[in-house]
Parts: sequence; structure tokens; C-alpha cells
Amino acid sequence: MSRLDNDKLSLSREQMIALGYKVVDMIVDYYQGHGQREMIRNIEGRDPGLGTREVPIPAAGQDPFKVLELVEKHVLADIQHVSDPNFFAYVPGPSNFVGAMADALCAGFNIFAGTATHSHGTAQVEEAAINWLKGLVGYPATAGGTFVSGGSVANLTGLILARHNKLEDDIRQAVLYCSDETHSCVDKALRILGFKPHQLIRIPTDLDFRMRTDLLEQRIAEDRKAGRRPFLVVGTLGTTSSGTVDPLEALAEICEREDLWFHVDAAYGGGALLSTRKRSLLKGVERAHSVAMDQHKWFFQPYECGTILVREMAWLHEFFHILPGYLKDSAEGHGSIHYRDHGIQLTRGLRALKLWMSLQTFGEQAFRDAVEWGLGLAEYAEELLRADPCWQIASPATLGIIAFRYRRPGLDDGALNRLNEKINQQVNATKRVFLSSTELKGRKALRLCTINPRVEKKAIRELLALLKQIGDETTP
Ligand SMILES: Cc1ncc(COP(=O)(O)O)c(C=O)c1O
Repeated sequence: MSRLDNDKLSLSREQMIALGYKVVDMIVDYYQGHGQREMIRNIEGRDPGLGTREVPIPAAGQDPFKVLELVEKHVLADIQHVSDPNFFAYVPGPSNFVGAMADALCAGFNIFAGTATHSHGTAQVEEAAINWLKGLVGYPATAGGTFVSGGSVANLTGLILARHNKLEDDIRQAVLYCSDETHSCVDKALRILGFKPHQLIRIPTDLDFRMRTDLLEQRIAEDRKAGRRPFLVVGTLGTTSSGTVDPLEALAEICEREDLWFHVDAAYGGGALLSTRKRSLLKGVERAHSVAMDQHKWFFQPYECGTILVREMAWLHEFFHILPGYLKDSAEGHGSIHYRDHGIQLTRGLRALKLWMSLQTFGEQAFRDAVEWGLGLAEYAEELLRADPCWQIASPATLGIIAFRYRRPGLDDGALNRLNEKINQQVNATKRVFLSSTELKGRKALRLCTINPRVEKKAIRELLALLKQIGDETTP
């Protein structure tokens, strides 16, 4: 690399092509290695040395291929393989290659998707993707939304709108409700917005882990009587632990009657809106004021990709639109939406492109089939588990997650908790698969999230046999 090029942070055409092809080759090899790699490496706790010791930031530049080697050795060799079909933990990230290439285009062209001025195509791609998503929710034409980094920011944005529209941003004495299964990003959002922990009321769930609406109604009445200001209910469409769905219709009724904002966290379960089979379970979501969704989960996109959808697009514009002097040149969108006016970010990339390009490439039916496959796999696992008395279902396969416990006669709950925790650790130690456990009503459960469309039924059979074998051989 010549000194001159280095000062301009530029590579020659040949260098760019060589580096670019090498990166693409690495990504393709990674995809092709799915299902065949060890799921973890034995370097837990080892400092990869990327701070200042082993790999300091050099004063002078170096060969980009050398840098790539460092990345391979210190970073890529030690990642969680969230797209691999043997990854069943947390919520997998079963990304797709077209989405990854869309991200490469976004970064390569450094697409600015904040204003539509001189950039109508970007705005229209985002609008097309939002329109498709709002159609899945069952929202009216006046609905809108915007792409964000993921579920946490999508939920935060929904809560911002609730605070603004129901409280005029005055949070004194305000209270809101969610269930004891609601994701912790809601707690985080409330911290960011200045609420105190006691302002969030966690309503207990029933035996199916769904919010108890009788207790919700009771609590709203008590809070009103005590002079507090109820303003919001957060329902979950697909909880993280068990994939269950709150009674959305009933929550919508209560919110309408009580004049509360109804926000639905569909960050995990949103993909299930593609399933006609599950549609009746999700009924009521279309009555929510706002819905948070993650396209980097069950819509098969690379990180980072989420959306906040709102029943009236004007709510976003009304809160987020600000026009300082230095933006007045681009005040007019000429019919296209300035997405900077619909969310937190001004400078923003075109996250919508990955969803749009993969939908264009594979078609909507492929997405529907992929979601249906994931739903079916969890149901298949449940069938197998129910057929063997060594297993107890902790939560059935509602939306692509099945939670279950190994059981052994004579062991109390504490011993079973320890046993199931050990099974989880030991199955991960085989490096063949990666699982994470959860707690449901205080009891440890094994858990499979089966949303990766590249998982085969055979893999489920083999995994359950392996878990059983480990369980049989393990003492609590
Ligand atoms: C139900 C639910 N809500 C919110 C989130 C947070 O989303 P993100 O991790 O994309 O910020 C998650 C993540 O798993 C989730 O499962």
C-alpha cells in the first residue's frame, strides 16, 4: 500500500477487489459450514488480547489481509453461532445470505436513509417493507412505522409514544402494566424514560404464562382509587422464555375501556403473523396502538433489524419531527417519507433493504413456509417429549419454543432444578449443539427455540435422545 493511499484511507481497485472477494468467500464458507462446526470453543475466560497488549493499534498501516487474519483468529473464531441449525438457545438469529449482502450494499454505498430528498428509492424501500409488515399486523392504511436497531429500541419507541400521548410526558404518579413474563427491555426502556421501578406493575401470569386479566383489571381500579395514573398496558406476543401469547383481545378491550395505550411486544413472536394457522391466537394485535417487532429474529435477517409499527403514522411524526435551520433544505419529501422524522435517529442506514431484498429474492411464500416449519418443529419436539415419561412439558410448543424438564421419581424440585441445569451444561459441553435453559414459575427448564428453517426433524430426534442419555447418566 503506498503512503499516499494510506493517508487518504483508500485502497487501490485491485486491493478492494481482492479484499472484497476474500470477505465474501469467508462468509460463504461460514454458511456452508452450518451444521458441521463445534458450537463452542474452549477459550472461555481467555483474553483474546485485542486491547493493547497482543494486538495494539498500530501507528502505521498494514496489509488488510493481515488485519483480516487477526479478525479471523481473535473475533470470528470465538462467536456465538446464532445462525447455525444446532443453535437452539435464547432466540436464534437464523439470518440469510441475501440479507447479509444487502447489509454489504448499505455499508458499501453508505446509504443515508434519514431524508427522502434526493433519495426517494431508499424511502420507498422502507415504506414498502413497513407496508408489508403493517399488513401482517392487520393495521389500517393510516398506520406507519420505522426500522430501528432491534426489539429493545422498538419497545422504547412505543413507550415514548405512550408517555407522550397518554401523559403529555408528565410521568408523576403514572403507572403501567405488563406481566411477570415481559422482557427486561421494558424495564430498561422505563429507566431511560425516567420512570422509577415501582411505576411498572408486573401482573402475575396464569398456568399458561399469560397475563391474568382479572388481576390487571383489579389493579387498575386500585391504582385509580389511590390517585395513580394508569396509562399503558404492554402485552407480549411470544414471550422469550416460553413463546406464549398474552390474551391480546382481552387486553385490547381493557385498554379501550380504560383509555390506556396498548403496546404489544412482538419482538420474538412477530414472525408468527405469517402463519395462517396461528392467526386466531394472535387476534387483538391489530387493536394495539403500537407493536414492536424484530426482523433479526423470525424474519431471518442479520442483526440489526427491528421495527416499531403504529396504528396512526402521524403519532411518530408528531413526536419526532423537528426542523432546525440546517435541515430546511431537505424539508420537502416530495411524497416520500423522511424517516428521520419518524424515530430517534437522524443519520441512519437502510435497515429495511435486507428485509426487502430477501422478500424480493425468496418471495413471501418462502417466509411463510419457513415460519411454519419452525412452528412445526417445536410441536414435533413436544410430541416426542410427551411420548417418553422421563420428560415433563414445562410449557407447550405455542410459538416455536418448547420448554421441558427431565424428571426422575423421588427427586424434589430443588434436585430437579440442579439436574436440569447440569443436563444443559453437559449437552453444551459436547459442542454438538447449543442450548440455554430458563426458569418458569421458579422451576428450571430446558428449552428449544426452533425458528431456524434449516433445522431438520432428524436433528430434533437426535438432540432429544442425547438429552435423555445425559439425563439418565447424571446425578443432581
Ligand atoms: C420478547 C422480546 N422482547 C424484546 C427483546 C429485545 O430485543 P433485542 O434483543 O432485539 O433488542 C427480545 C429479545 O430476545 C424478546 O425476546
